[in-house]
Amino acid sequence: MCSVIITKRVLIETLVAKLRGLPASAFDGTGEIRALLAEMPVEESSLAPYLTWNRQHYTRNLIDRTELYELMAICWEIGQASSVHNHRDQNCWMAAPIGRLRVENFHLDFQDIAAGTCRLAASNTVEISPAHPCAVDPKDPVHRVVNPREANERAVSLHVYSRPFDSCVVYSPEQGTCGNVQLHYNTVFGKPVAGKSAS
Ligand code: SIN
Repeated sequence: MCSVIITKRVLIETLVAKLRGLPASAFDGTGEIRALLAEMPVEESSLAPYLTWNRQHYTRNLIDRTELYELMAICWEIGQASSVHNHRDQNCWMAAPIGRLRVENFHLDFQDIAAGTCRLAASNTVEISPAHPCAVDPKDPVHRVVNPREANERAVSLHVYSRPFDSCVVYSPEQGTCGNVQLHYNTVFGKPVAGKSAS
């Protein structure tokens, strides 16, 4: 006989309240927030105010931001992917309440940001789904997120970043180049940001 564990989904507001109640120490390691995301998968319908779509680029939709963390919903059309990037030495957790996403991790051998050069190689991949959130490895944080074309469905991921950051380093493994990029939101607290169109 096999047993199936069904975890009840919670409203996004419930997850926000829980995150806001955590002490700073909860964001220092990766275990506590990853366990929380696994225990509290988010109900799809409660994300409706934060879902925007753009055929050219995935959208970044801010749900909550404090001094300690930010929580974002990222909406991925079929086949969309992020650049290979880091997270400014901040912790990052990802869950996929809608669809399934592939996180492709890279090992960075060398980088010289001032010169714009780097060397990195693909290391492993992890799938995130409603039941399987993941944490970025702080020792090897370079990765990209992909909504695989073969999945043939839109996907939405929730990202917790601690602490919040507004820029990151983007890498081209093929060309051995890297550089800083500024990060932007498409919507903030459910409202469009001027100049950041979604369709
Ligand atoms: C982004 O924040 O724009 C990319 C998603 C991620 O890997 O965190």
